Amino acid sequence: MAEVMFPHHWRKYGWRHGGNVVTVRFHGEGLNKRPNLERCCDDILRAAEEQGVQMVKGASLGFSTTRIFVADAFYKNTDPFLRISVGVESEQIEAVARAVLSGIKRYCISATPVNLNVAQQLYDAKFYKAMASMLEVRAKYTKDRVVFMEGEWLVSILKALGAKEEDFDALQQVSHHLGKDPTVDYRTIRNGLFYYDFENKAIQRLQKQRFTLTVQENYKRHDSGLPRDFPEVRGDLQYNTVLQGLMVVKAFIMNKVDVEPRAHLDYSSPNFLCNVFNIRTFTEKNILGEPTLEGVHADGADHTMTTFLGCTNMRSDSGITFIHDQKETTGIPATEAKPSLIKHRFQHRHFLDSLLFADNEAKHSLTSVFQEDLSKRATRDMLLFLTRKPKLEGHSSGHVDAIETHRTLPMNVPLWL
Ligand SMILES: [Fe+2]
Repeated sequence: MAEVMFPHHWRKYGWRHGGNVVTVRFHGEGLNKRPNLERCCDDILRAAEEQGVQMVKGASLGFSTTRIFVADAFYKNTDPFLRISVGVESEQIEAVARAVLSGIKRYCISATPVNLNVAQQLYDAKFYKAMASMLEVRAKYTKDRVVFMEGEWLVSILKALGAKEEDFDALQQVSHHLGKDPTVDYRTIRNGLFYYDFENKAIQRLQKQRFTLTVQENYKRHDSGLPRDFPEVRGDLQYNTVLQGLMVVKAFIMNKVDVEPRAHLDYSSPNFLCNVFNIRTFTEKNILGEPTLEGVHADGADHTMTTFLGCTNMRSDSGITFIHDQKETTGIPATEAKPSLIKHRFQHRHFLDSLLFADNEAKHSLTSVFQEDLSKRATRDMLLFLTRKPKLEGHSSGHVDAIETHRTLPMNVPLWL
């Protein structure tokens, strides 16, 4: 996994001690790149926090609390390394070691590229059964412009596509480790941009691009038109084969389904961009979790898919999705929407329950997240997949898409379509 350096022979050298600094250099491509090592530090600090071990991030040496740091090698073309300055409290040493190891293990798993390969399933009868079933869903989506997929159905489809058994559990844990949303106080979030490259038959991860929704796209909020910068999706989500399978399912169902075009998107391109959001919305004392603070709105996409990962302490009238007719007023709260203009009502209740709809042919809104037990926090964990054609000059967000693959989190999931 890694090369750990410490002067074990300090006695032989006649030194009084070996010092308190341990360095770690990882085996495996890209694992020693600075952005990845910064993530490693975060994983170790998180493990330390979970295990009640004192540890901080910092360059200083020789303090009583253990400090971890990404140090430069000072040689040209040499990657940095992880430096651990172990604290002086020797009775803590076992606990510190356990926390470092569990953080490193988590890091190595999440930084090692995994690509779901559907081609490996092409000789399995279950794969063709899944294709037939997905074709039925595509027909329903083509006709109704909205389709609700039960989580249980998706589990069987995803397994037939090759998703790994253990990744189903892992996906239910991933929302414990999201980042702070810079725009609102009732949710934690991560965002990643992906490319459905139908020309080259692959799904790839793209470099970060700030996320903008405008009034022209039916998004009316205090921050309409402003570019928003969210913490990035990491390997723990991106390299989960269930997540990758969900993207493949979406690609299969939406492919060839023509939707009402949006202004300044390139419908001559066979390719799509997909913004993936992993969001935990929560309600607690003085904070009300609003899945759609913007009220009745649209997402600037062609095809929107929302997938439920789990919830805690949530009242049964929470997180209900309404699909409204286009005539409904953008920006009004879900509670003020006209019943006669509500076309559909859905509620995600079980793991992987997913709703797919043609985003530019309707508007949508959700009820808040309410607590069952008012003394405890209520949480609702979701994945959003907002898929659209590439932007053209003149798009209301003011910029076109840069199609650049991600430098430190590569992904290449083959499509067979
Ligand atoms: Fe939305």
